Amino acid sequence: MSRLFFLSFFITFLTFHISYASPLSVHAKIAARHAEEIASAPRSLVSSARATTVCPTNSKAAFAHFLVGNVPTWNISDWENDFRFAQEAHIDAFSLNIVAGDSRTATSLSYAFTAANSVGFKLFFSFDYTGTAGAWLEADIISLITAYGPNGAYYQYNGKPLISTFEGAAYASDWTAIKAATGCFLIPDWSSLTPEAAVATGVIDGLLSWSPWPWGDLDMDTHIDAAFMQYLGTLPYMMTVSPWFYANLPGYDKNWIWRGDDLWYDRWEEVMFVQPEFVQILSWNDFGESHYIGPLDDNQYGEFDVGGAPYNYALNMPHDGWRLFLPYVIDLYKTGTASVTEEGLVAWYRLSPGTACPTGGTSGNTAVQYQLEFEPYEVAEDKIFFSALLGSSTTVTVTVGGVDLGAAWSSTPAGGVGIYHGNVSFTGKTGAVEIMISRSGNIVASISGPSITDTCTGNIENWNAWVGQSTGSTIAAVSPSLAVCDQVCTAGKGTGNFEGLCSFTCALGYCPIGACTCTAMGSQAPLPTATGVQGYPIAGEGSAYIGLCSFACNYGFCPPAACGTVDVGTTEPTSSPFDPPACTAGSGVGNLGGLCSFSCGFGVCPINACTCTATGVLATAPAVTADAGYVVSGLNETLYSVLCNFACTHGYCPEAACTTTKPS
Ligand SMILES: *[C@@H]1O[C@H](CO)[C@@H](O)[C@H](O)[C@H]1NC(C)=O
Ligand SMILES: *[C@@H]1O[C@H](CO)[C@@H](O)[C@H](O)[C@H]1NC(C)=O
Ligand SMILES: *[C@@H]1O[C@H](CO)[C@@H](O)[C@H](O)[C@H]1NC(C)=O
Repeated sequence: MSRLFFLSFFITFLTFHISYASPLSVHAKIAARHAEEIASAPRSLVSSARATTVCPTNSKAAFAHFLVGNVPTWNISDWENDFRFAQEAHIDAFSLNIVAGDSRTATSLSYAFTAANSVGFKLFFSFDYTGTAGAWLEADIISLITAYGPNGAYYQYNGKPLISTFEGAAYASDWTAIKAATGCFLIPDWSSLTPEAAVATGVIDGLLSWSPWPWGDLDMDTHIDAAFMQYLGTLPYMMTVSPWFYANLPGYDKNWIWRGDDLWYDRWEEVMFVQPEFVQILSWNDFGESHYIGPLDDNQYGEFDVGGAPYNYALNMPHDGWRLFLPYVIDLYKTGTASVTEEGLVAWYRLSPGTACPTGGTSGNTAVQYQLEFEPYEVAEDKIFFSALLGSSTTVTVTVGGVDLGAAWSSTPAGGVGIYHGNVSFTGKTGAVEIMISRSGNIVASISGPSITDTCTGNIENWNAWVGQSTGSTIAAVSPSLAVCDQVCTAGKGTGNFEGLCSFTCALGYCPIGACTCTAMGSQAPLPTATGVQGYPIAGEGSAYIGLCSFACNYGFCPPAACGTVDVGTTEPTSSPFDPPACTAGSGVGNLGGLCSFSCGFGVCPINACTCTATGVLATAPAVTADAGYVVSGLNETLYSVLCNFACTHGYCPEAACTTTKPS
């Protein structure tokens, strides 16, 4: 009944991060592979090398994740309504998340498939192994696939029923028999394993990566996507896309945000470059984690009560606007082109400045996933974000309380047709919000949004976003002049020492996904005159630099901190240069002292209980010695629970604060 799966997921996810930080990091290996490809390419080809983008295939599809456990009260027409919204958005199918042991699932599935057949929509199963009843039984999976796989509404890939999972990696071996019995095509989310280990199970037909949110105060990148694609080789990759993440559900030990902000725009740009076989939107109806794009629904708010939320932070916070441009971006992703027949405007923002009200104990990032924690207002920016789908440029104006904030587009589509995007700070401004786009003095579309105020419901900051939309009039159909597969990278970014190199080379069409993230595409920029200088990584650098130094030095940018002109060989890093820093030491006051100094050393340093005093490469935690740790009665659960759970399960369980005995 209750959805505990995200909590369990995050616990299993830890292993994923640990393995990422281990020697011979997967990222370093990928970067090396791409670097070698480029380094060995003839010089004349290097200039036009495009590391990953391929022309579209016919089997591409876009899905959305749907929590069946949220809708036990739905009848057939409720299902039909949401299926129609999804069809309007050009979503191909819902991935139906179902947990084991939920007696209401059978009826929900029967209604869902009846409704899908009546409106012509498709569905497939995502077996969630982290519900309260835990793992799925092999026999139950076989009987569900046998019952629904042949259904006309069941989504097929290569003539086989598509099946996904949410976790369940420990039961990988079950799938040999399940596949033999059902002939299904298996694309699980086993993010608790590295992609290398998931592929090595030998039973997968593709993989889904549950990682569409950026780290801390950074914008989204494609390092994890690159890792999955590297190990999948020619097997299909299902890339996830999400607009937002905020959960304050203490009952599920979930109280953090990940940066949303520009994410809905940024991540779709990344999809265009990465060109995965499949995209899955997270999600259609996860209101508790604020990443819904389906309609608000009074029948789906049970998890706010069960999870002990301070209040319902999805109420009156519609996200429908995030669907408005999906027909365009999904068509563009699937076919390489799309047409604009109706212009439109979408804008989103939080309703209070980040420091106006208490945080609600919410952190930016989560120590539960071994992440360095931030204050939430260091992660979510006080900005209004806006995107428009246009056939040609417009001006954009944003006012708050009647004050013009001086907004402008920061990203425009190559050739002028497509999605425009920008953001503007509202720091120090409160009042009514107006967003307007106009052309030659004529308003194309405008949004009047709720006021930004210094007060908050329940005096707790709502980190969820309000999303508004407005459509303009219809226009004669226009399409981008260049198909996506004929575009190259025109802007990109890198991490740390890669930043300068990636910015330079990605702008010139060379953006190896193993080392860089492409942020915009378009036609090939004119290349600078080749200097003939052969660049190499400097002493101590890894092979991820080979292709970048070779390309950049030849075109006149040879940053001495990364590249030189002498081949001194390479030294592979012992940790991935693409992993963000983790906490490596910390302290706490009083009773928290011992717990903080132990846990912070291994990346688990919750900001409301401990102070992180040093960061670096995540240290591998000591071996697991217990199943769980609990807070002794009388102490503050909020402060101690993450620490006791981590410390007690790894061999340090101070009696004054924690216990391995489950409280009765
Ligand atoms: C289905 O339920 C909705 C409320 O969720 C209700 O408005 C509608 O009348 C019901 N339809 C049928 C056919 O029972
Ligand atoms: C946000 O706006 C700033 C200022 O215009 C710009 O520099 C930045 O690139 C924008 N971010 C995105 C993701 O568009
Ligand atoms: C527990 O600690 C949190 C975080 O410091 C604090 O906000 C809360 O008031 C404390 N609860 C109690 C019951 O003292």
